[in-house]
Amino acid sequence: MSINVGIIGGGSIATHHIRGYRQAEARVVMIADADEAIARSLAAELQCRWTAEYGELLENPDIQAVSVCVPNWLHYEVAAAAIQAGKAVLCEKPMSISLEQAEALRQMVYEHNTFFQVGYMKRYHPAMQRFCEWLPQLGSIEMGLLRCYQPFPNWLWTDPTSWFTQKRLSGGGPLVHGGSHMLDLLHWCLGDVVAVSARVHMKADTDVDWHTGAMLEMANGSTILFECGWFEHSNHGPKQDGWDELYQLRGPEGVATLYPSFWDRPTTLVPTAELYTEATHSTQRFAEGPFDYFAAEIADFVERVEQNRDPSITVDAGYKVDRLIQAMYLSSERQQRIVLDPIDRYPMP
Ligand SMILES: NC(=O)c1ccc[n+]([C@@H]2O[C@H](COP(=O)([O-])OP(=O)(O)OC[C@H]3O[C@@H](n4cnc5c(N)ncnc54)[C@H](O)[C@@H]3O)[C@@H](O)[C@H]2O)c1
Repeated sequence: MSINVGIIGGGSIATHHIRGYRQAEARVVMIADADEAIARSLAAELQCRWTAEYGELLENPDIQAVSVCVPNWLHYEVAAAAIQAGKAVLCEKPMSISLEQAEALRQMVYEHNTFFQVGYMKRYHPAMQRFCEWLPQLGSIEMGLLRCYQPFPNWLWTDPTSWFTQKRLSGGGPLVHGGSHMLDLLHWCLGDVVAVSARVHMKADTDVDWHTGAMLEMANGSTILFECGWFEHSNHGPKQDGWDELYQLRGPEGVATLYPSFWDRPTTLVPTAELYTEATHSTQRFAEGPFDYFAAEIADFVERVEQNRDPSITVDAGYKVDRLIQAMYLSSERQQRIVLDPIDRYPMP
């Protein structure tokens, strides 16, 4: 058995979803893109139907699941319509661009009992999984570093055609783009953040963040120092390719370190993880791949929808990241430490 899928938004991320659906042997039966030429050309390639009105795709009773691959400002509108239409949803990250939207989506998912997964595909990489599996060997986790620097080309800041650097369309800068992934990995491996103190620097002449430093207090008692930004440093980073991401946790028994790679090259690049333990006085290294985390994400999404199981990366996970980003903005604006309450589960209908 396999499912019929619709893709809403046929830009750069959609190509990764399409590759994943092909490998998972799910059928992409319709593409919706507001730009007719894009919709038409992708549909020709996939031999499927197309529309410029995503509402038409959602009305198609043959479609069980949709990928929401539109720009960030449309996630809420499109995901909400997909939920109302009774489709299973794979929503690209970040889930939304405001706390109100994140809260409303969360409530809708629970009310409609929708299968809703958020596209934090980095979790699927074997190096990320190995990093999480190693953590008990550190003893109690006391301190950590979470870093996310990407070699964003300077010219893109002022490209008027890009939705990436306009707050109303993207929700923010590096914090919402690359930063959201690292914050999801943080929650996934270490648990909830209970308080945040952040300093967000805005890029001059724009309304989005440029670089952010924050102290995150975790529910397990540890402290994480977070840094995130865009600098055009083309040869810096662990692989000297401009990508400088790090997730490092430290306890009395050892240190675990994860080095992710460029997001869009999963079929050629290999993230790595390292574990130092005091018991061995040595460091072991884990590298596997290249491994296509998009294909793994989509295979898992398809299988869970087919088998009527719960999603792996839930609306609550998406909500926690969105809320933490908004808390960083607020903390910086008010120059205050912001406390985050545990989130309540909505009662199932
Ligand atoms: N998981 C990741 O690592 C990752 C990486 C890149 C992008 N993304 C996310 O994927 C989403 C899309 O990013 P992208 O890089 O593909 O953007 P993009 O600009 O390349 O593509 C977006 C597409 O959506 C279409 N579109 C716009 N309005 C629409 C509407 N009303 N109905 C239907 N289609 C519409 C555009 O015409 C365009 O083809 C964003 O949310 C982004 O954050 C995730």
